[in-house]
This record gives sequence, structure tokens and C-alpha cells, in this order.
Amino acid sequence: MEKPEQLIVDGKRLDGRAPEELRPIKIVAGALGRADGSAYIEMGNNKVIAAVYGPREMHPRHEAQPDFAVLRCRYTMAPFSVEERKRPGPDRRSIEISKVIREALQPALFLELYPRAVIDVFIEVLQADAGTRTAGINAAAVALADAGIPMRDLVSAVAVGKVDNTIVIDLMKAEDQWGTTDMPVAMMPRKKAITLLQMDGHFTEEEFKRALDLAMRGCEQIYEAQRRALKEKYAVGGTE
Ligand code: CDP
Repeated sequence: MEKPEQLIVDGKRLDGRAPEELRPIKIVAGALGRADGSAYIEMGNNKVIAAVYGPREMHPRHEAQPDFAVLRCRYTMAPFSVEERKRPGPDRRSIEISKVIREALQPALFLELYPRAVIDVFIEVLQADAGTRTAGINAAAVALADAGIPMRDLVSAVAVGKVDNTIVIDLMKAEDQWGTTDMPVAMMPRKKAITLLQMDGHFTEEEFKRALDLAMRGCEQIYEAQRRALKEKYAVGGTE
């Protein structure tokens, strides 16, 4: 796609969204039969699967920790998930994203309940349109809950940024590529605790506050979608 002259025209983004509007979101809990827990998510044109295995015995054994379970995350992109074929296998980007996803999810788990064990989280991007790390976190949180792993809270994530001098939420590829700022945020919504905050580009202090507030409101909406997906499978939440 060539760079358009403007990314926002008459207050509307290229896909017709308002600056504060999320892309359509769809979540299915338990999308895979063989995993202990799983979820499929679509956030706009992103399509991502998360699979959770464990808690189970750690291999290699010497990596087991005597007092808590190790959370292992692997984020990968399918070769067909992006416009130019992605070379299979880990690269610097996927190693970094795997690490920040692990750090975003870890505070929600009671890892001390499972000494010597490992919990494996696999995130596979089938189709990418910017925001795959945040879509991956949303799917992984649902997959962990689906695996029946006790959690303090779910983790919900979305990116905010600046495009044509406007603060926007849930950037698509064109906005990620040609916008000036991209800030992925993850939080535990009930605890209002931020577990991931990265920034590519610049915000003034005022813009940062507005963007963070927008991200937190977006996470609340995503949290509701995550809960709905789990309810559809388990009817959690009693009579709510
Ligand atoms: O996906 P996310 O926004 O979390 O991470 P990014 O590194 O900011 O990548 C933004 C987007 O660039 C991805 O979602 C893909 O759509 C695209 N991308 C790509 O086309 N080819 C790659 N090898 C990596 C990313």
C-alpha cells in the first residue's frame, strides 16, 4: 500500500473508524481441542491463536524452579501472515515480543502454586495487521483462564498512538507504519495495574496522559469481550 496523503479525513480513519474506536473484536475460548486451554481472536484483520499447555513437568529439568512455576511464552508469525513472506523461525522481533508478552501475563498468575512446573503459552499469528502483540496477550489471557489456571485477573491489551496529530486507539498497519507514535499497553482491568507499556515515537506529557486513559478505556471494552467469550464456554459469573 502506498502512503496516503492523509490518514484521517474529516475525523474518520482509513477504515471509517473514529479516533477512539476499537476494531471489531471476536474471541472464541477453547478453539483447539488438544491444548489444555486455548483461544482464537480477531481484532480487525488480525487473526491470532493462543494455546496453553500446563502446568506440567518442566523439560529440560534443570530449568525447573523449586518455588514457582516458570511461564514460557513463544510468539510466532506464520509465513503467510504478512504481505511479504515472513521467514519462519524466531527472529529478534519475535524474541522480544515473546518476552514482553510473558512479562505482561505473569503478574496475573499464581505461579507459586506450581513449584517445579512449567506453563507454556504459544501464540501464533495467522494474519497480521498491526497490534499482534496486544491481540496475542488478549488471546493468551483467555487461553490461560480456559486452561483452568487460577488468575488474579485477566490481562487486556491494546495499542494507542498518534496519527496525523490525533490520538487514536487500536492502530491498523497503515497507521502503525505512517503514524508518528505507537504505544502498546496491557493491564489487569479489575486491578487497574499496567503490565506492559512500550512506546515507539513521542508523546508530550499531556498526549501521553490522554493516550494512556484511552488505552485503559479500550482495555475495559476488551475485558468485557474476553469475559463474554469465557461465559459462552463456561457460563461464569453466576447470574450476571
Ligand atoms: O504487531 P505489533 O504491532 O504488535 O508489532 P510491530 O512490530 O509494531 O508490527 C506491526 C505490524 O507490522 C505487524 O502487526 C504486521 O502487520 C507488520 N509486520 C510485517 O508486515 N512483517 C514483519 N516481518 C513484521 C511485522
